[in-house]
Amino acid sequence: MKLVSNILKQETYSKADLIQLLESKGDDRALFFKKAQEAKLKYVGKNVFFRGLIEFSNICSKDCYYCGIRNSNANVKRYNLTDDEIISAAKFAYKNKYGSLVLQAGELVSSAFSDRIEKLLNEIKKVSNNELGVTLSVGEQSEETYQRWFNAGAHRFLLRIETSNSELYKKLHPSDHSFSNRLQCLKSLQKIGYQTGTGVMIGLPFQTISDLADDLLFMKEFDVDMVGMGPFIEHSETPLYAYKDELWPIEERFDTTLKMIAILRLMMKDINIAAATALQAIDPLGREKAIRIGANIIMPNITPGFYRNDYALYQNKPCVDEEPEQCMGCLDARLALADSDIGYSEWGDSKHFFLRTSS
Ligand code: 5AD
Ligand code: FES
Repeated sequence: MKLVSNILKQETYSKADLIQLLESKGDDRALFFKKAQEAKLKYVGKNVFFRGLIEFSNICSKDCYYCGIRNSNANVKRYNLTDDEIISAAKFAYKNKYGSLVLQAGELVSSAFSDRIEKLLNEIKKVSNNELGVTLSVGEQSEETYQRWFNAGAHRFLLRIETSNSELYKKLHPSDHSFSNRLQCLKSLQKIGYQTGTGVMIGLPFQTISDLADDLLFMKEFDVDMVGMGPFIEHSETPLYAYKDELWPIEERFDTTLKMIAILRLMMKDINIAAATALQAIDPLGREKAIRIGANIIMPNITPGFYRNDYALYQNKPCVDEEPEQCMGCLDARLALADSDIGYSEWGDSKHFFLRTSS
């Protein structure tokens, strides 16, 4: 077995190296966290960028076995923000210098949905003097639709692969959901020219450390610009809840997520990495811990307060009783604790994207 200090001197890591880092404890773990922190400061700096997250609808046609708002969950109170509500949330983000928005919703595929997003993009650009950046996170769509939205001003897209192991993917989704289509969508997004983001869940039933090492290699190989990954948190109204007693303890899912973020920062030094809200659901300072060791993006929820409870992908979601105004001061204070500055009014684009596309 190699010494962790020797692995960290390498330019690239083998799968065995990644497994060793993921399993490291004590001084070894502290050493690579420190290296990741240094790499972050050197390559992307001290600034953390905000993406105001608008969860504009929880209506979803998909039935993923892990997700609380899956189509078959009859206990969910379904909502769909009006266009006016979305635009006021966008104005809030603009006024408060968030720089960018993420429009996220359950997955729907229809021409009405495509038209609606296109219209919203035009309107958001208009009310913000073309200044707000917009990231979309609305699932698998046709290449044509992705292109339309890109033309209307969306320039980043988040679509998690969830796991890079196609066999595991099958166990997490019904048979009409397809790993190859998910991959194809990611390729389309990259081809069109989006800054392309993906990610995985950590600590899923049946998932191994070897799978997680493969996930890291997948992100590197795919040459992603942005990553958001978080711990899996079981939801009692989903099929995967049946495996709750076989999951890694929640603290281990949390710690492994931090390790994944730190390793990814060492592997892909100039990408954007989000501190997932699911980390905060486990530890109130979870996102700040992620920021310290490698993440540089936070997505404060700016969905109007009265809808927040109903976008429960997992249980114990934090801040569901807050209004967007309350999150502002809270985040300032929290990031100061994490030794970071906030990149107000900046898009905070992925540096990796510009390097990748200029070469
Ligand atoms: N635990 C953690 N993350 C989840 N997601 C969905 N359900 C859960 C859960 N139970 C994540 C998925 C999805 C993103 C929007 O939320 O990775 O892509
Ligand atoms: Fe939402 Fe603190 S981040 S209340």
